[in-house]
Amino acid sequence: MALDIVIMAAGKGTRMKSRHPKVLHQLAGRSLLGHVLGTTAQLGEHHCWVITGHGADAVESAIAGTGAVSVRQMPQLGTGHAIQQVVPHLADQGTTLILNGDVPLIEAATARALAQACGGERLALLTIVLDDATGYGRILRSGDAMGGRVLGIVEHKDANPRQREIREVYTGMMAAPTAALKRWVAALKNDNAQGEFYLTDIVAMAVEEGVPVVATHATDDTEVLGVNSPLQLADLERRFQRRQADTLLEAGVRLADPARFDLRGTLAAGQDVEIDVGCVFEGTVTLGDEVRIGAHCVIRDAVIGAGAVIHPFTHIEGATVGAGALVGPYARLRPGAVLGEQVHIGNFVEVKNSTLAKGAKANHLAYLGDATVGERVNYGAGSITANYDGANKHRTVIGDDVHIGSNCVLIAPVTIGAGGTVGGGSTISKDTPPGQLSVARGRQVSIVGWTRPVKAKKG
Ligand code: UD1
Ligand code: MG
Repeated sequence: MALDIVIMAAGKGTRMKSRHPKVLHQLAGRSLLGHVLGTTAQLGEHHCWVITGHGADAVESAIAGTGAVSVRQMPQLGTGHAIQQVVPHLADQGTTLILNGDVPLIEAATARALAQACGGERLALLTIVLDDATGYGRILRSGDAMGGRVLGIVEHKDANPRQREIREVYTGMMAAPTAALKRWVAALKNDNAQGEFYLTDIVAMAVEEGVPVVATHATDDTEVLGVNSPLQLADLERRFQRRQADTLLEAGVRLADPARFDLRGTLAAGQDVEIDVGCVFEGTVTLGDEVRIGAHCVIRDAVIGAGAVIHPFTHIEGATVGAGALVGPYARLRPGAVLGEQVHIGNFVEVKNSTLAKGAKANHLAYLGDATVGERVNYGAGSITANYDGANKHRTVIGDDVHIGSNCVLIAPVTIGAGGTVGGGSTISKDTPPGQLSVARGRQVSIVGWTRPVKAKKG
């Protein structure tokens, strides 16, 4: 049976007080709409439509390539009016699942259950019981009990005081038989408190036609909470992060504090991994067995080998860290940094697009850019590769067992022969032979009999 999914995303989001469309605000590194699209992607074969309006250009470019098709709603005259714009595109038969672009954490299982409850024949509403139902559409039932038949939905602004006491509310998500939906939305009127075409009015129409109406209850309010303000966005972010943290804890990852953990992407962790407070993981990160991450590290798109220790305040992006390596505190690994086993990178060391072989060390205040560093190399404090001539980048090759003293400048392209030593303070612009000491600095001289100048006497 055909499944059409409609994601409503035309609303303004005034309370965000932002220049950007609400559905493009980020939750855990992904837009609100991106979360919903990620969920719908798990719902099997379907067509997906996104209703755009406010900030339509930005929203439409954000969904390019996802397979979803945008349908503009200009102006925005209500949720029923939004669906009126999309119905000509929908299949003739089957189920239409309606979701909201600003309700990001709806789970695939819940959405699937809603579509199944419809089954192309029934009108299925996702409802939830809230302590404070202010602002929501209330579910009207025959008799007061929750078990009564659903008769309709009354919007908060249209509800009488008695109806406002109802705590079962419409979440904004439903699944409707597509053929009937087309008929119903064509008949909507806007003679209500807000002068809008309410999608929720179709419930009474279904009842009148004798089409069964079923209410599926969401038990977890996190799944149905919408984002209308930065406060609500931050609240959902914390709930989402807590959910991810709990999953990792259950898998055996030892988070020092699940409330001070942020994952904006995916994290795969081996056994006995420890993560201290305040770390942020972005993109795709893989941590091997026994990895320890110190406090306040930011790690994006990285693979960290077994037993490696990342000390506090380290920043890693697009890098690979070998087994047993020690990195930080205050280190920066930039894209293309590939550290072999047992490599040591210490404080205030920056590595970019460079390979360090097993056991190489750069422990203090150094820069390695576009370098190939051999095994057991010791790279001294304050030394840098001068890899950029102002127009092009060049490579520095450092052979196995080389010692680079402190404060050296290696002007690329240059090769330091294996087993060689470069004296501290050298500026190396030519290749050096293996096994020798190379020094390139002014010779030290001491002047015999030199006397300090003395102040001239006044007057
Ligand atoms: C709607 C429901 C209400 C429900 C609540 C849940 C209606 C009439 N009311 O109310 O019963 O309890 O959601 O949050 O449906 N949108 C458009 N075009 C429009 C208007 C809205 O695309 O012209 C989109 C919005 O971007 C949003 C969604 O539809 O994603 C809901 O709109 P909103 O204005 O928030 O509806 P509510 O008044 O909250
Ligand atoms: Mg709303």
